[in-house]
Amino acid sequence: MIRLQAYDLILKKRNGYELSTAEIEHLITSYTLGLITDYQMAAFCMAVYFQGMNARETADLAVAMANSGTKYDLSGVGGTVIDKHSTGGVGDTTTLVVAPLVASCGVPVAKMSGRGLGHTGGTIDKLESIPGFRCNLEQEEFIKQVNAINISIISQSETVAPADKRLYALRDVTATVDSIPLIASSIMSKKIAAGADGIVLDVKTGRGAFMQRRDQAVELAKAMVAIGKELKKPTIALITDMEQPLGYTIGNALEIREAVQTLAGEGAWDLTELCLQIGAEMLVLAGRSQTHEEAYQVLQEKLKSKAGLLKLRELIRSQVGNPDVVDDPSLLPQAHYLTEVRSERSGYIKSIDALMIGRLVMQLGAGRRTKDSAIDLSVGIELKQKAGAYVQQNQVLAVIHSNRPISAESGALLGCFQFSQSPPRFRPLVWEKITPEDV
Ligand code: URA
Ligand code: CA
Repeated sequence: MIRLQAYDLILKKRNGYELSTAEIEHLITSYTLGLITDYQMAAFCMAVYFQGMNARETADLAVAMANSGTKYDLSGVGGTVIDKHSTGGVGDTTTLVVAPLVASCGVPVAKMSGRGLGHTGGTIDKLESIPGFRCNLEQEEFIKQVNAINISIISQSETVAPADKRLYALRDVTATVDSIPLIASSIMSKKIAAGADGIVLDVKTGRGAFMQRRDQAVELAKAMVAIGKELKKPTIALITDMEQPLGYTIGNALEIREAVQTLAGEGAWDLTELCLQIGAEMLVLAGRSQTHEEAYQVLQEKLKSKAGLLKLRELIRSQVGNPDVVDDPSLLPQAHYLTEVRSERSGYIKSIDALMIGRLVMQLGAGRRTKDSAIDLSVGIELKQKAGAYVQQNQVLAVIHSNRPISAESGALLGCFQFSQSPPRFRPLVWEKITPEDV
């Protein structure tokens, strides 16, 4: 009987019809309970892949998946909670900077983050390179800390959106990952379960991004903003550049060090600017600032006064990490070998391949090949130059931090740098902004 219903729903979507809220709910609930087989669900995903889903169906799918597991109730937090999500980047240290910066403005940050997978890193792995840092607070503790110091960052519970977890594994082996409605509902299901009042999405585009092409990134951003609009949850997206790695470092402990430097006002231009842009959107959604410009200025002041750095210190202390890492980065895990990579020619750096660098850092041991791989928190790559810079022959381009002697990696890293004789065209950091009015 149930199987027959699943058959009908697959058929309906395969033939290009719209599914009702009740039908989508039924499909996901039955799948979660094990009443629908993986092969039927896979067929359903393929039907969605070819026929698509409208905004209402996509929102219903996101909600149904959010309802399949733990949902966080943040009503105990005083003030509007704005979440921030990145579709994944290389050297994307943003959360570690923007969360304390926004919290230092008096806006509560109750953030659930993930671990790295493949060539992209995850905030939780980075935080765990701080000796003692605890990422697995209970909901009650989490809320208590947010109310006390305005910030907590914890790892997303295994019990959040289990239907999405199963569905993603299925999509991964049935060539149905790259469907916009399936990706949008997958990402948003976890954001909905995390309980925030509003969401700022950082949708990356470029070589190191999940959506390499800008038109695809825009399409994904629109689908996610449309879900927020359907659910009356203020949501906006920035399309941001991930052609070269963000900031100067890629690797877990290295990125903690970079977050500290950035919060001290001494960070790379691109990382600092992205944090100000995303933070400004968060302050506006939270109602802390009237305009983007005003919010941007408030955040710049917080960088100048180092209020965000102080907040990072508080966050680390509160989650039982050693706060002294803020003053003395040598307390973070250190790699045994530092290998300089030097330029073989003079010229402008045209591009630095974020995807290849992400893969290299993973090979060094900083990233996971599979969900359960162990990782080395100390290793990574430190860029000494970014795209657009003019370098002399033999000038140091990057330093590899490793725990084994380096051989082929130096050449591979050098190969990530492309040169030109004239200054390369400037790539914008923020390509565009997608608001509910755009969808
Ligand atoms: N990230 C997700 O969380 N889900 C997808 O489907 C793709 C990327
Ligand atoms: Ca970085």
